Amino acid sequence: MKDIRKVVIPVAGWGTRSLPATKNIPKEMLPIYNKPVIQYVVEEAQRANIQDVIFVTNRDKSVIEDHFDYNLQLESVLQRAGKLDKLEEVRRVAEMVNVMSVRQKKQLGLGHAVMCARDLIRDDPFAIMVGDDLMFGGVPGIGQLIEVAMAEKLPVVGVMEVPWEKVSKYGIIDGEEVAPGVFRVKDMVEKPAREDAPSRLAIVGRYVLTPDIFDYLDKVKPGKGGEIQLTDAMQSLAHDKGMMAVRMSGMRFDAGDWAEFLTANIYFALQDEDLRYELLGMLKNFVQFN
Ligand code: G1P
Repeated sequence: MKDIRKVVIPVAGWGTRSLPATKNIPKEMLPIYNKPVIQYVVEEAQRANIQDVIFVTNRDKSVIEDHFDYNLQLESVLQRAGKLDKLEEVRRVAEMVNVMSVRQKKQLGLGHAVMCARDLIRDDPFAIMVGDDLMFGGVPGIGQLIEVAMAEKLPVVGVMEVPWEKVSKYGIIDGEEVAPGVFRVKDMVEKPAREDAPSRLAIVGRYVLTPDIFDYLDKVKPGKGGEIQLTDAMQSLAHDKGMMAVRMSGMRFDAGDWAEFLTANIYFALQDEDLRYELLGMLKNFVQFN
């Protein structure tokens, strides 16, 4: 399999779970400590040597592309003020990756969003990262998938065990564990009822796919929720040609869930030595720690 150089990041969703915060601000731009959610996702891609980021976007999301571009006015203000560390930081973000974007003009589902990137992907294998799913750990989450895709020469999805009462929120796989944490996918189903779920191994927004997925997406009929589901196309691809799944080793936060979003904020703030003790002191004022 060729090296994975491109990632598709669908960002056209409305962010209804995070309203009213997302009424006029894309959910991907909400901050986790001092960086917007989307920057963590792009940093994960960059750490896995992905150079080209394709945002599948809509008319209200151009601020996401701007975040990864130069802001010359701001840079000259910082330069004149001698705030060179901040200057370096904002430039670094502009230089992280190449940015491309394509409009998803109708919200017809994740499978449809991926289809929108077809002409930018062409014949190369590529990654998909769902912008709400934040992964943290030693090895970049998407890098774990790339490693297995290269070794097996097959597409790969990232999975994690979720509680049975949450299986209906995810794509769920049925797999045979062939090495610790590595599964050969036998089947997959989008958001099954608890009693129909083949396991509690949930797809967590990280994929490495081959371009033949587009032929399967062409044929997919609207599935769960009337949407064009990526899971349905991957199910056919897995049956015909094989697919792997990898249990992701890092921590995961769903940025669209308030409890997880806020936990992620505190987690990252606590990593900053300058903030840690002040923050802990303030939290202690209104929380009883054991
Ligand atoms: C999408 C996918 C689902 C996957 C999930 C991970 O669902 O369709 O298979 O488990 O992302 O975040 P969504 O959350 O967009 O409804």
